[in-house]
Amino acid sequence: MGYASKTLLEDLLEERPDYPKPGVFVETGTYKAQSILAMTKFFEEAHTIEIEKGLFDKAVKKCAGTGIHLHHGDSAEIVPRLAKQLGRPAIWYLDAHWFPDSQVHGEKPFPLWDELKAIVDREQQDIIIVDDLHAFGRRCLHNGKEDLGSWWEVSVKSLEEFVGPDRLEHCFKHVAGDCVILYLKGA
Ligand SMILES: C[S@@+](CC[C@H](N)C(=O)[O-])C[C@H]1O[C@@H](n2cnc3c(N)ncnc32)[C@H](O)[C@@H]1O
Repeated sequence: MGYASKTLLEDLLEERPDYPKPGVFVETGTYKAQSILAMTKFFEEAHTIEIEKGLFDKAVKKCAGTGIHLHHGDSAEIVPRLAKQLGRPAIWYLDAHWFPDSQVHGEKPFPLWDELKAIVDREQQDIIIVDDLHAFGRRCLHNGKEDLGSWWEVSVKSLEEFVGPDRLEHCFKHVAGDCVILYLKGA
């Protein structure tokens, strides 16, 4: 599992210096709020979404006074709402999935495709980070425990095809950051 960090952000901006830096950062899967706390200072607006109530409540306490918008619920439902509300480009850090410490999940255990659909339907020059490159194509995660996700369907190719040529400008694997980064065309 990767974390969003200053280095990842710098590399992402360096890869495409022609892209304006988005003012908004949205994370799915807050967990212990490590990534969102590291990233919030680089953005005018930051959002994070967590489905597990205990983790959400702890994150609310940890993030007090930071201005981060914390959302409790299923990212498959909340991302489409935010995607409509946010009228400017955002970085979407997609990291919500089954996890041994929480094991709670939404109606669908793997919200990635619903999250992506909502973002692709926008018209903004967004940047999407899909975390957990190491898990792509696998059936099992986390010390042999069965993963409820559908990582086996995820590959760079399937992500590129899902986003489609009308929206996809550029895609690259950030191996050190354990993620894939997709740069979307604006309307
Ligand atoms: C890998 S952890 C996230 C790590 C965090 N992004 C970080 O960088 O520190 C995955 C988190 O996603 C949450 N999660 C799982 N399904 C979710 C869903 N449908 N909506 C929102 N959060 C979800 C889990 O409860 C868990 O806290």
